[in-house]
Amino acid sequence: MERPKICVVGASNLDLISYVPRLPKMGETLHGDRFQMGFGGKGANQAVMAAKLGGDVAMVTKLGDDIFGRDTLQNFERVGIDISHVHITDQAFSGVAPIAVDADGNNSIIIVTGANDLLTEKEIEAARPAIAAAGIVVCQLEIPLPITMAALRIAREEDVTTIFNPAPARPDLPDELYRLSDIFCPNETETELLTGMPVSTLDEAEAAARSLLARGAGAVVLTLGERGALLVNEEGATHIPAEAVQALDTTGAGDAFVGSLAYFLALGKPMTDAIARANRIAAVSVQAAGTQSSFPTAADLPGDLFT
Ligand code: RIB
Repeated sequence: MERPKICVVGASNLDLISYVPRLPKMGETLHGDRFQMGFGGKGANQAVMAAKLGGDVAMVTKLGDDIFGRDTLQNFERVGIDISHVHITDQAFSGVAPIAVDADGNNSIIIVTGANDLLTEKEIEAARPAIAAAGIVVCQLEIPLPITMAALRIAREEDVTTIFNPAPARPDLPDELYRLSDIFCPNETETELLTGMPVSTLDEAEAAARSLLARGAGAVVLTLGERGALLVNEEGATHIPAEAVQALDTTGAGDAFVGSLAYFLALGKPMTDAIARANRIAAVSVQAAGTQSSFPTAADLPGDLFT
């Protein structure tokens, strides 16, 4: 069977994760219980998730010419990602993300995007063949907005389906970005910030998703954490619940979902089916520590996920 092709344009970070009893208050110094370093960055995470499931993934990103950048490059190679469009710069350090995870698995993240900010429109244009060859193109907001927009425009010109994950959240997104998103995939916090509407109940979440749809997105897949995800498109609204699990570390769970969704859609699965599968994989990821280290490979997962 041919492997589904996915192209991810986005950031790579080195995650520096401290496990703490609770998140610190302003001005407070806390003792952590444990530290873990691992590969992260929303784009890289989504690419690695899709590759671990068996996708043929091309990554477009920029790394610093430093130890973190070199290790990240090796990590991409190890999981079989096409690195033809992974650029290296000596003008900035690789992106880093100091992360605190509390006893309930909740996190707070600082990102210092560094080299990710230096990705250029010319480099995105050079990646046009990789974008055009993909079944799905995935973008987020951890690289400069004009670069994300350039990638989505190329995908639209090449008639490739786009998933846009508006993370990390920022309120001022241009309407064109919605129109370029075949699938607009925010989480609860991002939705509240973008719409100014609450998402506490499913009815509220649907109303907020409808307002995002009205801005021009083809479909909205609103991730709801342990409540699963809500698909809202012109045909209506469908809630796809997630199974209840004990979360150890939720860092990167949204990326596990987006990478899995990209994989299953590129494989040709219908939308609600792809979402249900992505829910299951995100649920697996929250039960292990770390970001990419918590992402399962196809071999770790029940066979019915791939039938
Ligand atoms: O979504 C989780 C990711 O956010 C982490 O890997 C961190 O690098 C930040 O980008």
